[in-house]
Amino acid sequence: MLATHKGMNISALEFMAVLDDALSALTKNDIGQREQEEVLFILYSMRTEIVLV
Ligand code: HEM
Repeated sequence: MLATHKGMNISALEFMAVLDDALSALTKNDIGQREQEEVLFILYSMRTEIVLV
């Protein structure tokens, strides 16, 4: 993940926008609350390998 996003200058705001879109997709497809949280947690854990690297 680090190698892919390195040098892209991705901001915290841009990263949050992706999480926002993911949440919308999960809600739209009737994914349970608990599972939504799990997915968001996993995505959020990748932050340090994507934002401003
Ligand atoms: C949790 C958030 C994110 C995840 C899980 C994620 C995951 C990925 C993955 C799996 C790839 C493909 C890597 C490969 O082909 O080997 C990729 C590529 C890419 N990501 Fe992300 N990404 C995230 C956030 C972002 C954000 C916020 C941006 C920009 C605003 C971004 C821009 C890109 C671009 C442009 C590519 C294409 C790279 C290329 O093919 O040259 N990503 N991402």
